[in-house]
Amino acid sequence: KRRVIIDTDPGLDDALAILFALGSARFDVLGVTTVAGNIGIERTTRNAGGLLAVMGRSDIPVIRGSDIPLTRELQDIVAIIHGSDGLRGITLPEPLNLPLEDASGWIAKTLAAAEPGSVDILALGPLTNIARVITEHPEALKGIGQIIAMGGTLNEPGNSGPRSEFNFASDPEAVSVVIGCAAHLKVVLVPLDVTRKVRAQLDFVNGLPETAHGNLAREVLQAYMLDGRQSRALHDPCVMLMALEPGLFRLETIRLDVDLGIEPDAGSLLVDERGTPVAVAMGVDTEGALALLRSGFV
Ligand code: BDR
Ligand code: CA
Repeated sequence: KRRVIIDTDPGLDDALAILFALGSARFDVLGVTTVAGNIGIERTTRNAGGLLAVMGRSDIPVIRGSDIPLTRELQDIVAIIHGSDGLRGITLPEPLNLPLEDASGWIAKTLAAAEPGSVDILALGPLTNIARVITEHPEALKGIGQIIAMGGTLNEPGNSGPRSEFNFASDPEAVSVVIGCAAHLKVVLVPLDVTRKVRAQLDFVNGLPETAHGNLAREVLQAYMLDGRQSRALHDPCVMLMALEPGLFRLETIRLDVDLGIEPDAGSLLVDERGTPVAVAMGVDTEGALALLRSGFV
């Protein structure tokens, strides 16, 4: 089993990724840390707790993280996609436990206590918490196996600015910290270039099992449809798939920097010979990805 920490801002596609991880027998989820992104921190934390409650997982802690980016203002919420509650009105049960506080401190403690290289960090939102771990707790980094982060775009148009993707545009300074440590830590980026190629068609949605888990995944996907035929891009679930089957993706090592200027380009990835070499998913086996995703809903 892959021992993972999920850092997230649920968010409909975050919710689907979390449900997949909890349903797949191949993950050992040590904790879910939250960050402000698709919606404010109170709501992302509440949504994370509700998802764990549906799955009856009172054993997995939810830890509240950063309510604002490292140095910038919080971006406007993307209510057009995720609704004003982050989940387009999907109702979840009350969280089973109160959330813990201080996500970056908790991540650092967990990593420090782990076998070297044994814990993967699956980052589904702005990278604020992860950047804090790197800068404030460098001694803990030895516990990390890899950081897989959804964000950025190389050749696809952005979804925040014309060249910037939402997670990376939300906290460009945090992206810079994470990319900066790719020289001595395994960092894998999952950008829009691949996530836009993974969408659920109607038969996928209708074919999910009639169980509590399958029904909630279907409800999430129905709220996340682009039109009557297919869903929006399944950005965050691609991180889970990368953790389980990296062979589904074509990885390229690209020297990268991040634009730290002003909006709308802030957070854009810059291909730069002086940048840090980072593994970036630039291609995906769409059929294989959807088949693996399907297998996680039980
Ligand atoms: C990313 O932004 C969020 O809206 C999604 O949850 C995903 O993590 C896609 O750009
Ligand atoms: Ca997200």
